[in-house]
Amino acid sequence: CLDIRKLYTDAGVFTYDPGYTSTAACDSTITYIDGDAGILLHRGYPIEQLAAKSHFLEVCYLLLYGDLPKAAELEKFENTVTRHTMIHEQIHNFFRGFRRDAHPMATMVGVVGAMSAFYHDSLDINDPRHREIAAFRLIAKMPTIAAMAYKYSIGQPFVYPRNDLDYASNFLHMCFAVPAEPYEVNPTLARALDRIFMLHADHEQNASTSTVRLASSSGANPFACIAAGIACLWGPAHGGANQAALEMLREIGTPDRIPEFIAKVKDKSSNVRLMGFGHRVYKNYDPRAKVMKQSADEVLDLLGIHDNPTLQVAKELERIALEDEYFISRKLYPNVDFYSGIILEAMGFPTSMFTPIFAVARTVGWISQWKEQLADPQHKIGRPRQLYLGPTQRDYVEVEDR
Ligand code: ACO
Repeated sequence: CLDIRKLYTDAGVFTYDPGYTSTAACDSTITYIDGDAGILLHRGYPIEQLAAKSHFLEVCYLLLYGDLPKAAELEKFENTVTRHTMIHEQIHNFFRGFRRDAHPMATMVGVVGAMSAFYHDSLDINDPRHREIAAFRLIAKMPTIAAMAYKYSIGQPFVYPRNDLDYASNFLHMCFAVPAEPYEVNPTLARALDRIFMLHADHEQNASTSTVRLASSSGANPFACIAAGIACLWGPAHGGANQAALEMLREIGTPDRIPEFIAKVKDKSSNVRLMGFGHRVYKNYDPRAKVMKQSADEVLDLLGIHDNPTLQVAKELERIALEDEYFISRKLYPNVDFYSGIILEAMGFPTSMFTPIFAVARTVGWISQWKEQLADPQHKIGRPRQLYLGPTQRDYVEVEDR
């Protein structure tokens, strides 16, 4: 069998590939995307089947360990995640150091990075037990941290996790329960949120996952690596697009204003993009967006929200864009972020929580890729090369002679 890594090293190949449009930085067995056909498989299973039949923690197991769990394995896995949902009590003080109006993503970058100052038994990346417990801690605590960031931003007391609830229900509880009042999780919303988590769980070597891998390649601890991933995800070209997409739909406001907006997008000098549209890999409809669109219809229906103006604008915008030469020729289709915000808004989340929810879901993807990288005996420090275009050598000039 051909060792492709040795082949490249021996050949001394040097490629110039800004944006890594055609460079593979690793091999992986986790997620497969066929961007032309619009196919997404996790460990071989189509995302549509997982979204319809599975649930988030089962998908977590699949991504982490490679196969769907047997019933006993799933039960043990779910119990272990549940046992780790609390965060160290001192981390509460850490939150209070942030301004109330900080974006929850800013708070999460700080708090997750700071976890390495609290969990000393999860830092030794050469110890498989440390790696395992770090994985559980991050998957279990990320919803707690995101919910705390939200509660802090609205001036409400933190709500402790409830371990009798499933992953998505517990997150809704931590975000929306208020100590003085009874709160019942709506199972329809919990199922819809669980599906959103599944649809965001992993997406091979996207910008944030590559950031996690690059940070990890130097031997950095898992909390530092995931904090780096969160920081990268926040950008509007990546996970921040869900917030940007809903804000864009609100700004358009009514279907009659769509042509005016599209004209602005086509005018390159405006630097306006259709947020939630386009993808580096998908040159076809993002399969996650298909599920998300259907889910938006279902959730709004079940909540009795008919004629939602944002959903109407989104559907009409999609229809017009998909018939427009500008979008057709560039193969621009809705991506996962186009419809997710509509569901999250209907659940009661403010736009600033959309990207943190993405981060909660993507944590398992980051961790699975991180574990895979560390398990590869041939992994190396990531060190891209450059094409130097600066001055050639010249002599230093004393300040008075410049
Ligand atoms: N709206 C308008 N035009 C677009 C869009 C868009 N959303 N996306 C790409 N284009 C155009 C570009 O202007 C460019 O046109 P040109 O050839 O005339 O110069 C062409 O399509 C190619 O665009 P690139 O930026 O080279 O494509 P790239 O693969 O680098 O970018 C990206 C992919 C960043 C996702 C881009 O499509 C984009 O900015 N989309 C909007 C933001 C977004 O939704 N991001 C979420 C991605 S999914 C995720 O991270 C979960």
